[in-house]
Amino acid sequence: MAGFYRSTYNNPDGTQGLLAVSQMEPTDARRAFPCFDEPSLKAEFTVTLVADKKLTCLSNMDVASESEVKDGKKAVTFNKSPLMSTYLVAFVVGELNYIETNDFRVPVRVYAPPGQDIEHGRFSLDLAAKTLAFYEKVFGIDFPLPKMDQIAIPDFAQGAMENWGLVTYRVVDLLLDEKVSGATTKERVAEVVQHELAHQWFGNLVTMDWWDGLWLNEGFATWASWYSCNIFYPEWKVWETYVTDNLQRALALDSLRSSHPIEVPVKRADEINQIFDAISYSKGSCVLRMISTYLGEDVFLEGVRRYLKKHAYGNTQTGDLWAALGDASGKSVEEVMDVWTKHVGYPVVTVTEKDEKTIQVKQNRFLRTGDVKPEEDKVIFPVFLGLRSKDGIDESLTLDKREDSFEVPSTEFFKLNANHTGLYRTSYTPERLEKLGEAAKKGLLSVEDRAGMIADAGALASSGYQKTSGVLNLLKGFDSEKEFIVWSEIISRVAAVQAAWIFEDKAVRDGLEAFQRELVSPRAHQMGWEFSESDGHIEQQFKAMLFGSAGLCGDEKIIAAAKEMFKKFIAGDKSAIHPNIRGSVFSIALKYGGKEEYDAVLNFYRTSTNSDERNTALRCLGRANSPELIKRTLDLLFSGEIKDQDIYMPTAGLRSHPEGIEALFTWMTENWDELVKRFPPQLSMLGTLVSIFTSSFTKKEQLAKVEKFFEGKSTNGFEMSLAQSLDAIRSKVAWVERDGEDVAKWVKDNKYSA
Ligand code: BES
Ligand code: ZN
Repeated sequence: MAGFYRSTYNNPDGTQGLLAVSQMEPTDARRAFPCFDEPSLKAEFTVTLVADKKLTCLSNMDVASESEVKDGKKAVTFNKSPLMSTYLVAFVVGELNYIETNDFRVPVRVYAPPGQDIEHGRFSLDLAAKTLAFYEKVFGIDFPLPKMDQIAIPDFAQGAMENWGLVTYRVVDLLLDEKVSGATTKERVAEVVQHELAHQWFGNLVTMDWWDGLWLNEGFATWASWYSCNIFYPEWKVWETYVTDNLQRALALDSLRSSHPIEVPVKRADEINQIFDAISYSKGSCVLRMISTYLGEDVFLEGVRRYLKKHAYGNTQTGDLWAALGDASGKSVEEVMDVWTKHVGYPVVTVTEKDEKTIQVKQNRFLRTGDVKPEEDKVIFPVFLGLRSKDGIDESLTLDKREDSFEVPSTEFFKLNANHTGLYRTSYTPERLEKLGEAAKKGLLSVEDRAGMIADAGALASSGYQKTSGVLNLLKGFDSEKEFIVWSEIISRVAAVQAAWIFEDKAVRDGLEAFQRELVSPRAHQMGWEFSESDGHIEQQFKAMLFGSAGLCGDEKIIAAAKEMFKKFIAGDKSAIHPNIRGSVFSIALKYGGKEEYDAVLNFYRTSTNSDERNTALRCLGRANSPELIKRTLDLLFSGEIKDQDIYMPTAGLRSHPEGIEALFTWMTENWDELVKRFPPQLSMLGTLVSIFTSSFTKKEQLAKVEKFFEGKSTNGFEMSLAQSLDAIRSKVAWVERDGEDVAKWVKDNKYSA
């Protein structure tokens, strides 16, 4: 799935179809044609493709001419492209269907191979036309190409790729059958489309001058997709989701010693591939959200327009963006932002109270393993305090030294990092945290504040700043919470404790499961699991999440309901399971079932023609935890029945139980040579796989086992993922050692276990 490669699909008549497609980013254009393959060496491309007459040929530009060449083939020549980087060049040749809209200045199309209902491209097609018009306005520059194509590719390593004028997608990230897919899938499709279209400006028109500036592409496209999604679908409230999604992803990865600065030196292809990670995407976008809040959104966008205009068809470094934002705002942006992109990590801000009107704040480097050494805690970050008080939000306060005191209107009520637009964790005293819990109940905090505060508390417990029992008490106190996103963070944080405790005594694990049940079951029963046309987008996701969470921690009523639905579904009534809860019903059926359920889900995978349905089946299979069924799931990986692009899917369910986690690692050690052969280190997937096969471990012995296996082996292409997995295991080892007794006692004291 790199360079100019073949992709296969099933024709409606059962024969196999072939597609020739390309994926050049970051350094595979050189596999397709000789070139100076670096982002700053831009060129104009005139592409000619020679192919069978009946096939469709696509490239970045529109067709200039077609002529017949020997053997009855045709030569299709495309118009000359503007000045562009090699990694954005694209070719596609195959039998293709398309739909088109003229709602935008230039024609917009969605293409798909036969066997896909092209009408499923309608949502992405319309959204693309609207989004292009919107970006032209916001970015102040017209889309410069004569057409915009988007195409579904059956074999694709990434989610999508922003080739200028010809964006390539995984089938599930472009085509949407609203009868078959739920609310979460729809939101994902919108995100991917709006992300790739943002690149048409950020990345394609203005390009980083080297890969160490990758965040300028990926961080910005991530920020822009959220920004535009919020405009088109305000009722989805995606900026609330952002706090539990990108912000937590950034803070999670960047809490590891083996994280890296946003701007990190990279040379070899196998190094470049590894920085397409949560630092470039999520932390990058968080840095933009932070500066946008600090400057105000209008000023921020004015700076963005100046940046794009000044550097159109050129290349930039991070400083160029800060300069344009400084220019637009009259503020020294570079001074405050440089530290965030040049240094690894972020601070934890500890707050204490001096008197009724003064707080003392202190920053220190935050590490999840809780073992910061003095030499790792030298950088002072400019921390935007975002003080929320009875008078509203004060965005002007900045902590730019180690420690300082600040006046607040009253310590009766205050919270830092209003809406969690800052990149840090806040550590409050237990008494203050309790007061904030009460403030949450009184409606004094935003959804972002509540979710972010829970996330901070959870992360601080896992690294030893607080007792885990304290966080469990805090979560328990949120039982009257009404918002989806806050619940989503509560459930994630309980899950994080459970994941770290997964190899501990059954009594404690059962106790945690009982706690989870007490938290989610009443609300799950109250909201129910019926879906109707009138349910809002968030309400659908909320019901689905509670149903799945309660069912998988043993809620008898929901298990019975799921089994009932599953039975009808397998008997042929496809409407028995709503798409929003398909994954949960399958998972519950497999967790509390046996071979019969397993065969049914596998059969569903084999017979469904919809990629979203097939993916659900694959992701759930691993939930079955008998030795025989674990083996069958693992045997699937190299069976030829699963495309390489989907190899990680069956591992998802296996990671939910101790037997699966052990079996995954063993399988990896036994199949290592074959894995490396199929997923060469210079391409991007091996790192993801190594992390999947190792990072769920929690014990010292397991850590040693992983280290021993890789001892003496080349780790090129995945050294970052491996180091991060090892750090993640270390942090869990330390957490359980530190708070094992604390949690056991809490579970007992609260009567969750005998
Ligand atoms: N430029 C990337 C695709 C890419 C990733 C190329 C890694 C080479 C290596 C593209 O814009 C992208 O970011 N795609 C994301 C989807 C997006 C919505 C976050 C993906 O592939 O998951
Ligand atoms: Zn991207």
